[in-house]
Amino acid sequence: MTASGSDPLSQQELDSLLSSMQMGLSKVPAKTGATRSKPRQATGFETHPLYLNMKVQRDFAQLLQINDPYYRRHEVQAGANSVIDGRPVSNFASYDYLGLNGHPEIVAAVGEAVGTYGTSVSASRISAGERQVHRDLEAALSRNYGTDDCIAFVSGHAAAVSTLATLMGPKDLIVHDAVIHNCVVVGAQLSGSARRLFPHNDLDALEALLSDERDQFERVMIVTEGLFSMDGDGPDLARLIDIKQRYSAVLMVDDAHGLGVLGKTGKGIFEHQGVNPADVDLWLGTLSKTLVSCGGYVAGNAVVVDLLKHQAPGFVYSVGMPAGAAVASTKALEIMAREPDRVARLHERSQQFYHRAKAKGLNVADAWGYGIIPVVIGDTIKTLHLAERLLQRGINAFPILPPGVPEKSARLRFFLNQSHTPEQIDEAVDATVLEIASLGVTRPF
Ligand SMILES: Cc1ncc(COP(=O)(O)O)c(C=O)c1O
Repeated sequence: MTASGSDPLSQQELDSLLSSMQMGLSKVPAKTGATRSKPRQATGFETHPLYLNMKVQRDFAQLLQINDPYYRRHEVQAGANSVIDGRPVSNFASYDYLGLNGHPEIVAAVGEAVGTYGTSVSASRISAGERQVHRDLEAALSRNYGTDDCIAFVSGHAAAVSTLATLMGPKDLIVHDAVIHNCVVVGAQLSGSARRLFPHNDLDALEALLSDERDQFERVMIVTEGLFSMDGDGPDLARLIDIKQRYSAVLMVDDAHGLGVLGKTGKGIFEHQGVNPADVDLWLGTLSKTLVSCGGYVAGNAVVVDLLKHQAPGFVYSVGMPAGAAVASTKALEIMAREPDRVARLHERSQQFYHRAKAKGLNVADAWGYGIIPVVIGDTIKTLHLAERLLQRGINAFPILPPGVPEKSARLRFFLNQSHTPEQIDEAVDATVLEIASLGVTRPF
């Protein structure tokens, strides 16, 4: 790009550009219509509406001289620092909250597991893929939540999709927070259940919805996140538990980002809010954040885990996770418990970012100031320019744009790592403030 060297276009110029580019899209046949005309036959995917949309966006970005922020190659292991295009950067775009990625103890344990079991378990766990390391990981995760049992999938996304599609069906209702992660939306859609959204963290609205509709369904599941991945805030868990009990619903909490981040010892939102984790029916999580591996899990009672282990398609019909991946997360949990100062340091660094950003007038929305801090800009183009300019200064923060977040709420998302230095954090906040000012972004963003 040259976004760093070029001034963003005016709103009027942008609007006119957008409408001329959207003319291309208007040729795409509408998906729904009162009368169903004979479909035009297609073989390739060049005319797929999603592909056409991508093309419009790319052409638009090119016109504005914005570099594509997607699929940038990092040349070193993820952590508080990285190297992109040969240039070292302070990295605020990776999930490694407790700085455990590449920890020598974890690397050694993974090496040993690979030496023992190889790089693949070469079968679904239900057939020939079961290894002791899977059970060790599931036992360690169950201990974190005080649940009977746990099931570990090969991906966090797949864990959510498969679990919802297995447990819920056409007679049921799934009610979820409006900004829930995509894995829950896709799982709910696949389940065939009715699906309703409540405004972000608005438990009055949730209660009103249940009061109106609970009676029409067999099972009702409420799904929310413990620490929202795009917003860095979370729900009032005790109240959610009270609501789910009064409306005979099941509560699933996706604490993918809460584990390692929330609570004095990093156990998650229940520790942060002093709530008994056994009052939550299903804990959904991922191994890809604090637990520096690849995979996902659901912790809950023995019946639900038994059911999933024999019926969830993404588990039964998919290979078991490699032994190395399982061992990495078990070790990470062990180090997290043994070294609570990592969690304390993460809290310190996050709070430093949060308070400095607020003091300097950045819009951090309702973030709690632990692990994830958004800087909301609003305008998509300015957010892209901001990310690019920060990268030129050696600061990597990922731009999050609609539809990943609601319209007009584009933002940069900063993931904090306990290994960030106080200097890196001050520098990142101050550079963001400077670049926002030079882009002419004014509050309210
Ligand atoms: C809240 C939330 N849930 C689930 C997932 C999916 O996890 P995974 O990356 O392990 O597939 C993510 C990943 O970003 C997430 O942020």
